[in-house]
Amino acid sequence: MAHNHIDLASEFFAGNAASYDDVVRVTTLGNDHKWKKKILAHLSSPTRVLDLACGTGIVTFAIRDQFPQCELVGVDLTADYLEIAQQRAKATGHSNLTFVHSAAEHFTDDVPFDAIVSSYLAKYADIETLTANAAAMLQPGGILLMHDFTYPHNAIIAWLWERYFPVLRWMPSRNLRQWLIAFKGLPTLVRESTWVADLRTAMQQHGFTDIRTESLSMGTAAIVTASR
Ligand SMILES: C[S@@+](CC[C@H](N)C(=O)[O-])C[C@H]1O[C@@H](n2cnc3c(N)ncnc32)[C@H](O)[C@@H]1O
Repeated sequence: MAHNHIDLASEFFAGNAASYDDVVRVTTLGNDHKWKKKILAHLSSPTRVLDLACGTGIVTFAIRDQFPQCELVGVDLTADYLEIAQQRAKATGHSNLTFVHSAAEHFTDDVPFDAIVSSYLAKYADIETLTANAAAMLQPGGILLMHDFTYPHNAIIAWLWERYFPVLRWMPSRNLRQWLIAFKGLPTLVRESTWVADLRTAMQQHGFTDIRTESLSMGTAAIVTASR
């Protein structure tokens, strides 16, 4: 398995963009939708939002639907995913959406954002660089929000969690076979990830305030937020 976080993400997401939306809904047992709703609940009438690792745009379009006047920028590493997001934007005829092909950590913009969000990026990300850039791009009072999987602390939930990914790997569906590399690599990545602690430390170091962690779905995911 690749060790550089960008190489790792490139391996996980090669050739599976078309099935992503279905796979994330099914494999999270419907929790993805609930988690995305919680992300949106942190936004109050934003005018300009950056969605880092936007993928096919699930969060981006949910924000657009809830706040139609909001200008949105989505950034992602994987061209196939962005292509789907771009086609979706074209089909709905909205001009306030921009998609940029870039690593989240390398993206900067001179026009400030009032929120920067991400879903399933933190465990792959260079948290320090990302948080430093986010601090520079957010206007005062702006919010940085990161959502991702976490390893459950509860022993019974952890036992079940450990058995879930091997089950997924044996699913016969062709769509799921495109996800074998990700399903094999994800458990180790999530088990070893210290993204919540790293992000909280980076937020403190870069002057963020009101740093909060919300544990989700029996500790299997979390949302960390802070104000600039
Ligand atoms: C699981 S998908 C999540 C997509 C979307 N945020 C969602 O919640 O549906 C993960 C996405 O992260 C992107 N990604 C991973 N590491 C990245 C990085 N360092 N910079 C930008 N995108 C990244 C991948 O290309 C992929 O599209």
